[in-house]
Amino acid sequence: MNKTLIVLASAAMLAACGSNPPEEAVAADATTAVEMSGVDAYMAQCAGCHETGLQGAPVVGDKAYWEHRSKLWSTVIVDHAKTGYLDMPAKGGRSDLSDATIEAAVEYMLELTYPDMPPGD
Ligand code: HEC
Repeated sequence: MNKTLIVLASAAMLAACGSNPPEEAVAADATTAVEMSGVDAYMAQCAGCHETGLQGAPVVGDKAYWEHRSKLWSTVIVDHAKTGYLDMPAKGGRSDLSDATIEAAVEYMLELTYPDMPPGD
């Protein structure tokens, strides 16, 4: 076997090793709602707007953005997060997230904003 063949053969083996099955495809199954922890859901789906106040989103961690909303605690603002409210898209645009996941994400956002708040319910 000459050198070129050896190189080709090992390249082929490397290529074969590299072709792992794809990460389990996360198909959006309309019947199975996706469950995530509050922090994961927040990072994945909410932080994009709520870290910086994009599109007028109340900024997490800055009470000034939440004071007038806190009068609605918490059923109403959780409801707004689920169903959408003005420029706030329903479930942050991920309709496949479960209601419990959205509740956990809102809870997490409020914990970041009000670290001294006694834990809810
Ligand atoms: C595309 C940007 C965007 C994304 C993504 C987004 N939000 Fe919002 N959110 C907004 C905006 C804008 C508002 C302010 C709506 C208003 O009062 O005008 C808002 C408001 C809220 C409020 C306050 C509602 C109220 O009644 O005052 C909560 C709670 C909230 N978002 C939770 C979430 C959660 C949880 C996620 C992730 C699952 C999320 N948001 C993702 C833009 C976003």
